[in-house]
Amino acid sequence: MDKTNRNAIQSTTKVLKLSNRDAGNAAEPAPDSTVKPTDLAAGSARDTAKTAAGLGADRDAGPVAGASASPGAAIAAGPAIAEARERIARPIRSFVLREGRLTAGQERAFRELWTRFGVNWQPGETLDPQALFSGGPPDLSQPRPITLEIGFGNGESLATMAAAAPERDFIGLEVHRPGVGHLLLLLEQQGLTNVRVLRADATALLETGLPAASLDRVQLFFPDPWPKKRHHKRRIVQPSVVAAVAQVLQTGGIFHLATDWTPYADWMLTMLDNANALFENCAGPGQFSPRPAQRPLTKFERRGQRLGHQVHDLIYRRR
Ligand SMILES: C[S@@+](CC[C@H](N)C(=O)[O-])C[C@H]1O[C@@H](n2cnc3c(N)ncnc32)[C@H](O)[C@@H]1O
Repeated sequence: MDKTNRNAIQSTTKVLKLSNRDAGNAAEPAPDSTVKPTDLAAGSARDTAKTAAGLGADRDAGPVAGASASPGAAIAAGPAIAEARERIARPIRSFVLREGRLTAGQERAFRELWTRFGVNWQPGETLDPQALFSGGPPDLSQPRPITLEIGFGNGESLATMAAAAPERDFIGLEVHRPGVGHLLLLLEQQGLTNVRVLRADATALLETGLPAASLDRVQLFFPDPWPKKRHHKRRIVQPSVVAAVAQVLQTGGIFHLATDWTPYADWMLTMLDNANALFENCAGPGQFSPRPAQRPLTKFERRGQRLGHQVHDLIYRRR
């Protein structure tokens, strides 16, 4: 090996060591993929857009640690290393942002309909859910019940529920841009005025973005099951999220979950039944609930049915 090459490798190793050390003792080991510096650079542009929307980068985009980089390439990826370092330090997410392209209709929806139905929220801010619908100061004498749907997918079932319940207001939360665009179009087509849409990470919003006891209902239909054991930590149903849902629900409010993945249904049942100081299982301890008639079939539920999966509903009342 000549001297130039040796120096390049030494300086690259230094950069990688530095980035690993500065990343702190990241909460979990690096994911199993090895990321090429070129991936980091590509991720950088993608993630800038996501950060602007108040969303984190894809955690599975992977680590710098152990990167099998050629020295020259690693040096070229210098600015991306700082960003990758930040990515490692980020919390575990229940989603991976794989954006896909927006249709022309969805592009238009973001341009023309976001101001009507969209809510801009950033971590650190607290929303007043009632004020989102009144267009003026909240009328506290007659608050309307508010349902929050986490991860509405393409929004079809949320739009159906909102159309069927004009006496209620709905806040839809989703991170996937095409899904958000799809729901905006549905709201316009159906002339719905009782839905507001946020593109945000539900865990962040639940933890700090909503006042205590501000919601009547929280629904979580067919969340990503993360079936592999090493991914269970990414499931959105965790004790911290259960506690956060309890915090934002009014006494007597409902937390309704559904899944077509039986091991996840059992996970949910255990976790929610264990939180029995906060929630009462409407079907009785250890029991799933019958599917309520007002819950429309969702896109992922139809997929689960095609695969022969059994669907479980879980309905809990806030004590
Ligand atoms: C399996 S899909 C189900 C979609 C829809 N509920 C249905 O049944 O068709 C799960 C959805 O949850 C969204 N999601 C996952 N984690 C989220 C989070 N932390 N905040 C907001 N949305 C999330 C995903 O983007 C995805 O669209």
